[in-house]
Amino acid sequence: MSRLPLICANWKMNHTASEATRFLQDFVSRMAAHRSALDERVEIAIAPAHPVLDRLGRGLEGSGIQLAAQNLHAEESGAFTGEVSLSMLVDLGCRYALIGHSERRALFGEKDPEIAAKALRLQGSPIRPILCVGETLEERDRGATLDVVGQQLSSVLEVADGLGDELVVAYEPVWAIGTGRTATPETAQEVHAAIRKALSDRLGRAGDRIRILYGGSVNPSNAGELLSQPDIDGALVGGASLDPEAFARIALACLEIP
Ligand code: PGA
Repeated sequence: MSRLPLICANWKMNHTASEATRFLQDFVSRMAAHRSALDERVEIAIAPAHPVLDRLGRGLEGSGIQLAAQNLHAEESGAFTGEVSLSMLVDLGCRYALIGHSERRALFGEKDPEIAAKALRLQGSPIRPILCVGETLEERDRGATLDVVGQQLSSVLEVADGLGDELVVAYEPVWAIGTGRTATPETAQEVHAAIRKALSDRLGRAGDRIRILYGGSVNPSNAGELLSQPDIDGALVGGASLDPEAFARIALACLEIP
């Protein structure tokens, strides 16, 4: 089963609109020589902070690079001060939206039912969810990794049961995010294989087509080995995606995969 790798930048609360414009000029010039590979061998997306979506989206027009949102609210409109709806993101041309990122879960109290409601909101829309799952160090140490990840996954699939291969899953062990500590390719592959099995058991052949990204301290030095694993279909990149050179090297690592 060949799945088009997806490399998605998660800028978190970094890069203003002007910084994003400078990033894009540099990044696009680095990728220019690989334009055809860009369409055929790797898909690239960038998730800036919400106020930067408009400017970045305009800059991305015609580049083949996709615009992604870092979050959205489960309701379509209403009295939710500070929140952003699906139709606002569609209007800006987003193609992907992260849901359930571990920072949303840990710092903003998001729980599985709320994340499932966001997935349901995205179902049937032009925006594909990138559902983030992953265990804490304490959960890993007590051997609960597969239970935790399985629960995070099934709570969404039970509610949003029509996503099929529109769904993208990102496995991000919490202990590897922003720490410089990456899961070894073998450790990551083990969890990715378990996620693949859970997806296939529930969704049949669509489960085989769903892309499972790895995230957590991905950088130009470790990307190649991670991306060569059979069930690692791309990367969600935080810190290293802020630098156009590093992010380009990670994206280009996909072209080296046999
Ligand atoms: P990191 O972040 O690459 O800085 O570890 C990844 C993420 O949080 O998506």
